[in-house]
Amino acid sequence: MPLPLPLPLLFTLLIINLISATSIPPFREAPAFRNGENCDIIGGAANTTIHIAMTLDITYLRGSIAAVFSVLRHSTCPQNIAFHFLTSSRHFNTLNLTITSTFPSLSISLHPFDPLLVRNKISTSVRRALDQPLNYARIYLADLLPPSVSRIIYFDSDLVVVDDVANLWSINLGDHVLGAPEYCHANFTSYFTPKFWATPELSKSFSKKERTPCYFNTGVMVIDVNKWRESGCTRKLESWMRLQKRHRIYELGSLPPFLLVFGGEVERIEHRWNQHGLGGDNIRGLCRDLHPGPVSLLHWSGKGKPWLRIDSNRPCPLDSLWAPYDLHYSPPSSSAAAVLLSDG
Ligand SMILES: *[C@@H]1O[C@H](CO)[C@@H](O)[C@H](O)[C@H]1NC(C)=O
Ligand SMILES: *[C@@H]1O[C@H](CO)[C@@H](O)[C@H](O)[C@H]1NC(C)=O
Ligand SMILES: *[C@@H]1O[C@H](CO)[C@@H](O)[C@H](O)[C@H]1NC(C)=O
Repeated sequence: MPLPLPLPLLFTLLIINLISATSIPPFREAPAFRNGENCDIIGGAANTTIHIAMTLDITYLRGSIAAVFSVLRHSTCPQNIAFHFLTSSRHFNTLNLTITSTFPSLSISLHPFDPLLVRNKISTSVRRALDQPLNYARIYLADLLPPSVSRIIYFDSDLVVVDDVANLWSINLGDHVLGAPEYCHANFTSYFTPKFWATPELSKSFSKKERTPCYFNTGVMVIDVNKWRESGCTRKLESWMRLQKRHRIYELGSLPPFLLVFGGEVERIEHRWNQHGLGGDNIRGLCRDLHPGPVSLLHWSGKGKPWLRIDSNRPCPLDSLWAPYDLHYSPPSSSAAAVLLSDG
């Protein structure tokens, strides 16, 4: 049973919360990364740029920075990687300053994302965190990226890569617009409302597919941006979102429209590239274990985030695999406060 906190401590907690909610935490500068010897920058097959897109916002900043750091640490040719950050305009300059000063030698571009684009298309889901406009920015990747980018890897901010990202970049997408690890044993029924299944015009979007539609997680995707543009995927996703707004055909944030547009037409990527669910289940955030098989990417999807659990001294066992990539700098005074808090 929690003991009532003494009033001064309660006040201190309130102040700490206010500060952490409004200011950007300090980060250590990452070491400079250089291409390995077998990485020919000018000429040779290795001179293609690997484009990676992520969102950048205050709430997940610590995760995004750890993700970038992990990609660089495991890359043979880190200087060939270009990061594209989709950023809401509200904190644009501050976030730019943070990311460029943490990774001074990295090729970085920031793309402002206007949350008004999706404001009237989002309906509330079972988890509020999934309703943030920036969570939908991935739908607009093809519009936001410069036309010169023809392939993109999209990464969520709550993951770390523990393999050379070039291995993911070089996969063959075949005829497909999008590649991702698929999970064909997932129960599809529960992702959509009974109203969806009871309406043949809606549910037929799955029956007409040649391949069985399988679940995939939108936190790790390889996308052919040109094919995406040609097929008008953004407009297709938007029209499902408009339908959702009027008829509530699913429960969870940005995933179901992706299942509706791409389900059954996803290029299958090895499961090692998205060991997902490490954040725990959506309601209680209980600790999860790894799925069997090799691991190239660890993804803390689900309710809990490793940095929050580590800060509150209640980490899950696998959070220790995230910690080595944490560039958050905690000044001595705040660790003293942490001791004080854990004593309370
Ligand atoms: C490597 O760079 C050279 C010079 O910029 C270019 O002509 C060539 O097409 C590039 N090779 C590949 C595989 O992209
Ligand atoms: C981001 O900040 C860097 C300096 O840290 C600056 O050179 C660059 O122009 C800024 N980018 C944008 C898009 O404002
Ligand atoms: C899938 O879930 C629905 C309810 O969401 C349930 O009625 C059905 O039995 C489940 N199917 C399987 C194969 O588990």
